[in-house]
Amino acid sequence: MNPAADRAALAAMLERLLPCVEVPYHLMWIDRIDALKRERGAVIMAHSYQSPEIFHGVADITGDSLALAQAAADCDADLIVMCGVHFMAESAKILAPHKTVLLPDLEAGCSLAASITAADVRALRAAHPGVPVVSYANTSADVKAESDACCTSANAVQVVEAMGSDKVIFLPDRYLGRWVASQTEVELVLWHGTCEVHETFTAQQVRHTREQFDALVVAHPECAPEVLAEADFVGSTTAMGRWLARERPQRVAMVTECSMADNLRDQFPQVEFIKPCNLCPHMKRITLPAIHAALRDLRHEVVIDAGVIGRARAALERMLAVGRREAA
Ligand code: 13P
Ligand code: SF4
Repeated sequence: MNPAADRAALAAMLERLLPCVEVPYHLMWIDRIDALKRERGAVIMAHSYQSPEIFHGVADITGDSLALAQAAADCDADLIVMCGVHFMAESAKILAPHKTVLLPDLEAGCSLAASITAADVRALRAAHPGVPVVSYANTSADVKAESDACCTSANAVQVVEAMGSDKVIFLPDRYLGRWVASQTEVELVLWHGTCEVHETFTAQQVRHTREQFDALVVAHPECAPEVLAEADFVGSTTAMGRWLARERPQRVAMVTECSMADNLRDQFPQVEFIKPCNLCPHMKRITLPAIHAALRDLRHEVVIDAGVIGRARAALERMLAVGRREAA
């Protein structure tokens, strides 16, 4: 497709996903970002919770936190702009330490990452000597550096089982931990963190949505157990996409971050998405003007101590090795 046709197709797609009055404004920023991106030789990565004008408009690579971490390690560019939250930009930097990683807003945090420190992990280890630590990717680099392995919601059960221990310290999400515990024989020691977005869904809301819209329900495992018990399918960001491709439901309620449904809508035009919307305030700090400013001024670089990078990398590499083993 030629560039003009590409741009017309993008405009038409954004008009399907967003209020059409917003589209010219977004296209203006998309053009500016495209020009700067080429000039700088940068790669833009976007998590599935980013708004459609970012996810479809400027991102070269999209996906869940696992896919983005892998792509950061594999891509050729020396400059990465991470449209996501701080722990995702840190994971990119840890796996690609010689590259420059920019986060358009350094305040884009995560309630899970904020719930635990490296000192907390050391205290857990002291309380449970010899028990391996698996940390969700939604943690700081300091916490990853204290961990034996990392995981995402896409591979948490496999990573826990790959530790070869009948007991594992799993942190920091207690709801994800309870869901993982329900899928494995391994005993888990849990922390008390929660996702401020997913914890707000209630079982009653899910029942109400199902009855009102006659919709199937998919839920992210960061939701409370009573919410997951109401769902037709529980899975990670990527697993939800795969489930949709397999099941092709007439109507589906996405019990997760709101932009997920927007970003999937174009891929599944025959599915009606019910959006019991919850926005992640951290993800939504990333905007087109903020991406443009980061690229223009090369600002908001993610910097991590070299010693921390080395130890955190070992934990992330262990997670990636489990994925490679599963795929082989
Ligand atoms: P994924 O690991 O599924 O990308 O999720 C990250 C996240 O922040 C979920 O709330
Ligand atoms: Fe963190 Fe929840 Fe936002 Fe994901 S949705 S980045 S877990 S606060």
